[in-house]
Amino acid sequence: MPRAGSGRVQFTPRTDPPPLSTEEPMMNDPYERSAEYIDIMIADAWDAFDPSLAEALGGVDAVEGTIVDLGAGSGRGVRAVCAALPDDSPVLAVEPSPALRAVLLARVHEDARLRRRVTVDSGDALNTPLPDRIRALLAMNMIGHLPPGQRQELWARVAPRLAPGGRVILNLAPPTAP
Ligand SMILES: C[S@@+](CC[C@H](N)C(=O)[O-])C[C@H]1O[C@@H](n2cnc3c(N)ncnc32)[C@H](O)[C@@H]1O
Repeated sequence: MPRAGSGRVQFTPRTDPPPLSTEEPMMNDPYERSAEYIDIMIADAWDAFDPSLAEALGGVDAVEGTIVDLGAGSGRGVRAVCAALPDDSPVLAVEPSPALRAVLLARVHEDARLRRRVTVDSGDALNTPLPDRIRALLAMNMIGHLPPGQRQELWARVAPRLAPGGRVILNLAPPTAP
């Protein structure tokens, strides 16, 4: 059974769980109407993202810490992470949209390797508790959701936690503006 609490779901209890989120669930979900189609609409794009992401993850020299996927959507990113870095290091998938999170949870639950590693969090990039040490942070197809001030706020949270040799990996695909 998953271990769930305050919007964070961990299928396999780990010895190093990140702190629990205390955030309220998202009230206005911009993906409310499109969420059911997002995973199939974004599939072709991920055929191109997968090799580039694998290459970028190959350059992560940090070996300790949590890999964070902000705006994890339907989970294609966490699946790519677990394939590219096939150790057992923890992955935190942050996804505020309830409908997208349902797809994400199903994708994680379906695969024993993902279930072992991935914790799913219902928080928001700006206020969900981040792990003390981040091995890599992904923000694929999501950074355009944040206005410039919020992006600065995010980098200020991430920079002190990024492990030496760690990486922030993002793309500028739409939406490129909030
Ligand atoms: C275009 S989707 C991309 C999903 C996934 N990263 C992918 O590439 O398949 C953008 C994602 O960013 C999420 N998002 C939007 N604003 C966010 C925020 N403030 N914090 C975290 N995630 C956010 C959305 O819920 C959505 O899942």
